[in-house]
Amino acid sequence: MQETENTVEKTIDENRQGEVLSGVGNKNSSKKMYIESYGCQMNFSDSEIAASVLSKKGYTTTNNIDDADVVFLNTCSIRDNAEVTIKKRLKHIVGNKRKNPNLKVGILGCMAERLKSKLLEEEKLVDLVAGPDAYRDLPNLMDKLDGGDKSVNVQLSRDETYSDIDPVRINSNGITAFISIMRGCDNMCTFCVVPFTRGRERSRDPKSILDEAKNLYAKGYKEITLLGQNVDSYRWSDDPNLRGKSLKEAPRKDVIDFSKLLELVAEIAPDFRIRFTTSHPKDITDDVLYSMKKYDNICKYIHLPAQSGNSRILEKMNRTYTREWYLEKVNKIREIIPECAISTDIITGFCSESDGDHQDTVSLMKEVVYDYAYMFFYSERPGTLAAKKFDDDVPLATKKSRLREIIDVQTENNKITNNKCVGETYQVLIEKFSKKSDKDLCGRNSNYRTIVFPAEDYKAGEYVNVKIVRATGGTLIGEVVGRVEF
Ligand code: SAH
Ligand code: SF4
Ligand code: F3S
Repeated sequence: MQETENTVEKTIDENRQGEVLSGVGNKNSSKKMYIESYGCQMNFSDSEIAASVLSKKGYTTTNNIDDADVVFLNTCSIRDNAEVTIKKRLKHIVGNKRKNPNLKVGILGCMAERLKSKLLEEEKLVDLVAGPDAYRDLPNLMDKLDGGDKSVNVQLSRDETYSDIDPVRINSNGITAFISIMRGCDNMCTFCVVPFTRGRERSRDPKSILDEAKNLYAKGYKEITLLGQNVDSYRWSDDPNLRGKSLKEAPRKDVIDFSKLLELVAEIAPDFRIRFTTSHPKDITDDVLYSMKKYDNICKYIHLPAQSGNSRILEKMNRTYTREWYLEKVNKIREIIPECAISTDIITGFCSESDGDHQDTVSLMKEVVYDYAYMFFYSERPGTLAAKKFDDDVPLATKKSRLREIIDVQTENNKITNNKCVGETYQVLIEKFSKKSDKDLCGRNSNYRTIVFPAEDYKAGEYVNVKIVRATGGTLIGEVVGRVEF
């Protein structure tokens, strides 16, 4: 999810690294915090929650690290290189303590959860460690530091969803925003550290999700992305007797599942777009596909990570589907929503993967012709089932050459899918000026393709119909044929 160099096409802003949260809080406060975030969108969304909790206690945020009384790194553990990057940055930051001995340094997020108080032993100059479910405790943890102690809270929760906390939206463009709808993951894919760093899966009260969404719409936002490690297993009931297993097994009529939630959010307004990520292939139901079809404002794009094209490897990964089953799911999506874009995550060089197994991944990618793909080589994570049970036996050079090969396949897929768009007209939500010229605007279509077109008198936040005239690299170039009426 994070490594830009391996991402042929970006689907979501998940490759942001070390982004700084700035500009929130109580202006009268004397304490300033600086937060840098790594990892997936959930982590970025969590930084906004942590900042919101601390802003209520008088902390303001700054984007100048030299101004800060406390620096937080919200960290990711998904692959070893994510942790290596963060540790390097941490070394640099604790170096600032020489200039400012009162500076406090806190580690939040998945690395905090994975390493716990070991982090304080390994990194002597870190003051505070808080896991993903401990952000309500941040003011208290900060108070403890005033007495000269260090503080740690890595308690995971069965029910924390921060549903009542209104996240601050500071680095936002005022048009698109994330809403977390659930936390944790119960899937136990053998390669993955997330169930250990984020704990058990739990869904957030739909009322609070709807309130947050309506609030954003009232403020002028035009698009939200519903976030969860596995959004399709979203499930809620107001009945306190329906929890855990009994909630999972309750008949659909008694619960709000993901397809119902999607419809509730889509009803807010026709010019309020809904996206979601991530979908586990085993959980996305036909009901979700029919809800997507029914509402024009539910974007026609599904991130459906395959991980591998070989059924033996998939079983070893505990993905619980085979190659054939996955392909049937793709066919079902295309049957119900023919215009839907589909993307994937792929891991090369998982334990025992042979050249032949790898070729099955290559052929899967050629068969599906993904719109976008995020590709990684396998990185063994301590404590995961794969680390305990399997040998990490594919040499690094082989993992990397296989990765290169699938990146090349995806580059071809991109050409195919981009070229198909030429001549088509798409509804585009304008987000900003193009990076290259302030005479051009850019936005995305429902399929998440970036489209650039002459600015004329159009503005960010408006919807326009754009006819595509050519495709260059990952971008489509077009001309506006008119504003969209709702
Ligand atoms: N919940 C999401 C993904 C979370 S992690 C899902 O199930 O799709 C994002 C991606 O990182 C995964 O899809 C996987 O492709 C990759 N990933 C996870 N653990 C990894 C590891 N140990 N080595 C390499 N890539 C990994
Ligand atoms: Fe990790 Fe699998 Fe859960 Fe995704 S579904 S977060 S890959 S365990
Ligand atoms: Fe990384 Fe944690 Fe997200 S490990 S990918 S920040 S859930």
